[in-house]
Amino acid sequence: MIYAKVAGTGSALPKRVVSNEELAQTVDTSDEWIKQRTGIAQRYIAGEGETTSSLAVDAAKQAIDTAGLNASDIDLIIVATTTPDLVFPSTATIVQNELGCFGGPAFDVQAVCAGFVYAFATAEKFVKTGAAKNALVIGAETFTRILNWEDRTTCVLFGDGAGAVVLSASDEPGVLTTRLYADGRQKENLWVPSGVSTNYQAMQDGAAFVQMNGQEVFKFAVKALAQVVDDALEEAGMTAAEIDWLVPHQANIRIIQSTAKKLKMSMDNVVVTVDQHGNTSAASIPLALDTAVRDGRIQRGQTVLIEGIGGGFAWGGAIFRF
Ligand code: UT7
Repeated sequence: MIYAKVAGTGSALPKRVVSNEELAQTVDTSDEWIKQRTGIAQRYIAGEGETTSSLAVDAAKQAIDTAGLNASDIDLIIVATTTPDLVFPSTATIVQNELGCFGGPAFDVQAVCAGFVYAFATAEKFVKTGAAKNALVIGAETFTRILNWEDRTTCVLFGDGAGAVVLSASDEPGVLTTRLYADGRQKENLWVPSGVSTNYQAMQDGAAFVQMNGQEVFKFAVKALAQVVDDALEEAGMTAAEIDWLVPHQANIRIIQSTAKKLKMSMDNVVVTVDQHGNTSAASIPLALDTAVRDGRIQRGQTVLIEGIGGGFAWGGAIFRF
């Protein structure tokens, strides 16, 4: 039996950090409101020359390095992003070009904040079936580029960054289960209501921004993530007590706490980066994972549960032994 194992992790953040106080100078908000409602203290914002692909490449290089591999060993690249460099080609092919590992498949996955879980689950199938040996899975965003800086209900929430993992073929586990879901009826609760084929003029006019019904997303997220946790544990034949670490999508500390409560898990076993990074959409899970691997919290042999939800709605989770 072939398993897909996380062989290495990496991450990258833009240079510029913006605190809540700094934001409050230009937006009608306060450090107190943002911290109380979301847990966010600061976020990173990409500047000139910092793009989704440049952040992705920096994260990817670290992940390949920590896996003890060379770029030429990578035979599949999947980039989860909502904010690609270009309409086409895919950000994954731009990353491939920068890494210099040509020939294998490279493509993007769009599932917004669930993008990393979707990409991870997809790559796992390639590795498990023998179609890839060393898959590079990246979540990367310059989400702040699609924010309306005059809309305080969204612009205080998001940040930019990238995280990456290498999933390598292994005799031992490895990924134990992946679960993916979507409910397209929720489209208008979290969306950018313009694109290439619809309302393209708005994009050209620079009016293609995130809109969100925060309370609806919040309510749905709490329920959906509880379902993910139940289903993933059942499919893996595990109990919540066997999970060492929860690495959730980082949107709101209150949503994270409710999933931890569902698992009866102490917040000491939950990786929280939302305070430092804000919501980086598809990048948030691999950024948090890399943070906890690098600071020594997540150790080899431990069991990790990842989960996330976002626009669509699309959501999902995975359990793996690190
Ligand atoms: O990653 C994708 C998934 N996204 C999410 O998971 C987001 C889920 N939703 C949330 O995290 C929360 O709903 C928010 C953080 C977005 C909002 O928190 P909330 O507790 O649901 O606040 P609210 O929308 O009910 O707004 C409460 C008040 C309102 O004022 P009134 O009507 O009570 O006078 C808002 O106008 O807070 C006001 N408000 C703000 N005040 C200061 C909204 N945004 C701000 C702000 N600063 N930035």
